[in-house]
Amino acid sequence: MYNFIKQFHSGWAYLALLLLAFAVINAIIGFTSKKEFTAKDRKISLFALIGTHTQLLIGLILYFVSSKGLAVLGQMSNPELRLTSLEHPLINIIAIVLITIGWSKHKKLINSEAKFKTFAVFYGLGLILILSRIPWNLWF
Ligand code: HEM
Repeated sequence: MYNFIKQFHSGWAYLALLLLAFAVINAIIGFTSKKEFTAKDRKISLFALIGTHTQLLIGLILYFVSSKGLAVLGQMSNPELRLTSLEHPLINIIAIVLITIGWSKHKKLINSEAKFKTFAVFYGLGLILILSRIPWNLWF
């Protein structure tokens, strides 16, 4: 069970980050070149939303079955355990909340420029937060 969830979380992370990075780049290009926000742009943003939400769900399960998750929450003097038991989960949940806010906000906007700007800001911040707390030494 643990190994499967860990591998899944580890592998899906590539997909989630690629989809998110692609959506951020697409939003920045759309905003700066004043393009019209089309169904394709909506789909790119939706895939990034689904990709990161799926990663969040796998992460939540992993948190309870891993020996580096809830089990070691409280061992704050060990930076590696603090990362996987507190910083990585907490910051990633905040990042995914921001991504979800971005998605909800864009639906209420009519103007293409405002939609692209919302995705660039909220998805962009989400991406930066996620990248800031990846346990790189475990991943590679
Ligand atoms: C988009 C969000 C996330 C990304 C991109 C991500 C990515 C990763 C990566 C790349 C690793 C290292 C995997 C490895 O050992 O090969 C990892 C480990 C871990 N993640 Fe996440 N994660 C995310 C969200 C979460 C969330 C929300 C939680 C918990 C609520 C979580 C819990 C964990 C735990 C406990 C580990 C350590 C697993 C172990 O080695 O036993 N992750 N994550």
